[in-house]
Amino acid sequence: MNSNPIGVFDSGIGGLTVVNEILKQLPNESIIYLGDTARVPYGTRGKEVITKFALELANFLIRKKIKFLVVACNTISAIALPEIEKISPVHILGVVDPAVKKALKTTKIKKIGVIGTSGTINSKVYENKIKELDSKIEVVSVACPLFVPITEEGFNEHEATKMIAREYLEQIKSSGVDTLILGCTHYPLLDNVIQEIMGENVVLVDSAQPTAKELKKLLEEKKLLSENSEPTYQFFITDAPDRVYQIASKFFSQNLVDRIKKITL
Ligand code: DGL
Repeated sequence: MNSNPIGVFDSGIGGLTVVNEILKQLPNESIIYLGDTARVPYGTRGKEVITKFALELANFLIRKKIKFLVVACNTISAIALPEIEKISPVHILGVVDPAVKKALKTTKIKKIGVIGTSGTINSKVYENKIKELDSKIEVVSVACPLFVPITEEGFNEHEATKMIAREYLEQIKSSGVDTLILGCTHYPLLDNVIQEIMGENVVLVDSAQPTAKELKKLLEEKKLLSENSEPTYQFFITDAPDRVYQIASKFFSQNLVDRIKKITL
């Protein structure tokens, strides 16, 4: 048993979709979250910059005596995970592997679509991991770089969002996939729009639920589960607190939004 907090981080507010699931599946765990809202989006940046930013975020959480680190960002998981592993004294879980495993169980016709930031899609991390596990699966990947700024602005159901989403998703939709990986932790905030365009027969697989499930399994295996009936929650962001409060209150419970604080790294 270990009641130290779990550290969770993302380039912005998207990782809160993963926190929502961790709260459901692991209600006794304390959490410290860090979202780099000053420098979001990461997905259009190069490897060197993403790695530098990611190490700064990881170091901030490591200094807070966490027992486990969850990289709740697909772009960082795709590009900087090995570098974070080198500096971290605690176990690390990224969001890519859990989503891949779930998508492989979900597809019936062996055709999976993947959407993500340019960084994630160009890294081919999803394609490679899916093919490693089942070479017969057809993968159709499309980068949707505007989706992160759209959600950080709270434009989730806006007409402009629907137009952009139709444009991005056209190719994947016409390819006839039955499963679509939302390969960015911001994208569940657009799930209504994405589902409407893809149609009800396509199953959306996001990072949140499978990552929280895998985290629970790992904490059990490593005997790190907490039995604390009064867990603590801290949420840190690096800029624009008013905008973040407003957007986060749409999908995050108000008593947690009230705990979000701006810090300087
Ligand atoms: N939530 C991040 C991800 O999962 C967004 C990355 C970005 O800032 O572009 O990829």
